[in-house]
Parts: sequence; C-alpha cells; structure tokens
Amino acid sequence: MKYLALSLISTLFVSGGFARPSRLANREAARRLRGSRPFSGSPYVVVSSTTNGTDSQIESKTSAVKSSGTTLHDEYSTNWAGVVIESPPTGQNFTTVSGTFVVPKPIGSNGSASAWVGIDGDTASQSILQAGVDFTISGGKVSYESWYEWYPNYAYDFSNFAISAGNTITITIQSTSSKAGIVTLSNKSTGKSVSKSLTAPSSSTALKGQNAEWIVEDYEQNGSLVPFANFGTVTFTNASASTSKKTVAPSSGIKVNIVQNKKLLTSTSFTTNSVTVKHT
Ligand SMILES: *[C@@H]1O[C@H](CO)[C@@H](O)[C@H](O)[C@H]1NC(C)=O
Ligand SMILES: *[C@@H]1O[C@H](CO)[C@@H](O)[C@H](O)[C@H]1NC(C)=O
Ligand SMILES: *[C@@H]1O[C@H](CO)[C@@H](O)[C@H](O)[C@H]1NC(C)=O
Ligand SMILES: *[C@@H]1O[C@H](CO)[C@@H](O)[C@H](O)[C@H]1NC(C)=O
Ligand SMILES: *[C@@H]1O[C@H](CO)[C@@H](O)[C@H](O)[C@H]1NC(C)=O
Ligand SMILES: *[C@@H]1O[C@H](CO)[C@@H](O)[C@H](O)[C@H]1NC(C)=O
Repeated sequence: MKYLALSLISTLFVSGGFARPSRLANREAARRLRGSRPFSGSPYVVVSSTTNGTDSQIESKTSAVKSSGTTLHDEYSTNWAGVVIESPPTGQNFTTVSGTFVVPKPIGSNGSASAWVGIDGDTASQSILQAGVDFTISGGKVSYESWYEWYPNYAYDFSNFAISAGNTITITIQSTSSKAGIVTLSNKSTGKSVSKSLTAPSSSTALKGQNAEWIVEDYEQNGSLVPFANFGTVTFTNASASTSKKTVAPSSGIKVNIVQNKKLLTSTSFTTNSVTVKHT
C-alpha cells in the first residue's frame, strides 16, 4: 500500500485490516477489490468534526484530541469516505442496510471511485457483504460497472445491469445468516433490479452484523489504489440500517473522510436519513 507509506497520518492507519487475498478467483474477478478500511485499532484516530485542511493540521488536532481523551466523530482513511455505524443496538446485529443514490458523472482526466453500501468491514474487519457501482473516467471517457462482493473475495460484475450517469439506484444488502446474504440493486425509474445470493468465502469470514456503512471508496485494482476520480457529490438518500428489531439512522455513525498525500479529498455529512460525500 504505497499510500500508507508516506504521510504522517498514514502511520496512524497502519493495520492488519487490509489483507490482500492470496487467491485470484478468475480473471475478471481479479481486477477489483474493495478493501476493508485501514483503521487505527485502538485508540482510533478521532478528530473534531470541524477539522479540515492539511495533513499536519489534522495530525496536530488528532494528537490534541487523543491526549485530551475527547470522543468526537470524525475519522480519516486512505480509501473510505462516508458513514460507518460501528455498533448495533446491544444484543442485536445489523441484517439490512440500504440507500439510494444518483449515479454521478466523474470529471477531470483519469480516475475511478466506487459508491457502495455494506455490512461489516470496520471493527468487524474480517468480512464485508457489499454491492455498488464503480465510476471511471479515462481519457475523458466515462464508464460504469455494477458489482457485488463478499470481502475478502474480489468483486464480481453484474453483467446485465448497465448503469449510466443520472440513474437513481437503490442498493439493499441483506444477511440471511452470518454466512449468507442477498444483495440487490434496483433502478428507481424502471423498477428493474438485479440480485445475487452470496455465501461467506470461508468460516472465518462470517458476518458479525456489527457495522453498517454507506461509502465512496478509492478502491484497489491489481493490488494498488486506483487514482481517485473527482466524482462531484454522491448522496445516499433513504439511508437506513436495520436489525431484526430496530432501524438505525446513519447519523448515529461516524463520518470518515479520505486523506492521501497530505490532502483531504472528501467532505462527508449526514442527516437522520442521508449520507453525503463530496469530492473537495
Ligand atoms: C476549512 O478550511 C478553510 C480554509 O482554512 C476554512 O475557511 C473553513 O472555514 C474550514 N471549514 C471548516 C468546516 O472547518
Ligand atoms: C489519461 O489516460 C489516457 C489514456 O488512457 C492517457 O493517454 C493520458 O495520458 C492520461 N492522462 C493522465 C493525466 O493521466
Ligand atoms: C434505469 O432507468 C432509466 C430510465 O428508464 C434507464 O434509462 C436506465 O438505462 C436504467 N438503468 C438501469 C441500470 O437499469
Ligand atoms: C443475527 O442474529 C440472529 C439472531 O441471533 C442470527 O440468527 C443471525 O445469524 C445473526 N446474523 C448475523 C449476520 O450475525
Ligand atoms: C490489471 O491486471 C490485468 C490482468 O493482469 C491487466 O489486464 C490490467 O491492465 C491491469 N490493470 C491495471 C490498471 O494495472
Ligand atoms: C426507503 O427504504 C425503505 C426500505 O429500506 C423502502 O421500504 C421505502 O420504499 C424507501 N422509500 C423511498 C421513498 O424510496
């Protein structure tokens, strides 16, 4: 992970969370992986929600916060931006997470990013059940892929769900047990949808139902992060996470933003039913 090596912030994010799979399932699948978020273990890097600016500013505020022991609401990552709910109501587990977003049109020269919804991958770092949409701009040409993944397996594309800019897509992630689930993407305009039933890659990658998240990711391709596209803004509306007994709002989660090469690349905000990630 070259992005982890250089910046000051990175030293705080080094973790075992970013395991590279040793097995390449097939050629297509080998291309892309949405990794679990590199996080700092304990204590987390928690800084003021008003923080922005350079790596060193963030670093100094982070140190101040850590030494004062204050609990605040933002974290920084090299690859995830969005909101993560870090624990379900006591004694329950998250079984459904959903959100709706309008597919953005990236601008600039070359880059990619991915918008997705998932269960686990943060404090429950061994697995993620997730699905979403990648957006890429290459030499000015924009393209999209829709996909599903049970991390640490690679992502597989939906071959029959061609996305275009401006489509309103609802993502629903549902676990039916700790080792099985179903992911669905549906087109709000047409009602057309695609679903995939998935099972855990191995017994150690069973879901715990501890985290729910709405993320824009700088994902990994062939073992390194893709150049992060300027995607403008992604807003997940009607965003919710449910246990069998309760629905939890994204505003009970933490905001995560991407910092790379000493630059803050995103700005995340939330309401009780939405998550907005802006490329800054
Ligand atoms: C972010 O930084 C800019 C420039 O220093 C400042 O004007 C702005 O108020 C800051 N925003 C927040 C939310 O702190
Ligand atoms: C973008 O990609 C195109 C073709 O893939 C390449 O010719 C061009 O040099 C790239 N531009 C930048 C800024 O990387
Ligand atoms: C979604 O619906 C719109 C409007 O009918 C259509 O143009 C688009 O191709 C659809 N996209 C997908 C992924 O189904
Ligand atoms: C959540 O809890 C229910 C009831 O205890 C259990 O059946 C289910 O397997 C759990 N799901 C996950 C993802 O842990
Ligand atoms: C990733 O690897 C595949 C297969 O080896 C190759 O075809 C592709 O060009 C690589 N992509 C990048 C961005 O390096
Ligand atoms: C919001 O999501 C719920 C399920 O999570 C769904 O039943 C409802 O129809 C959605 N509402 C809108 C306006 O999309």
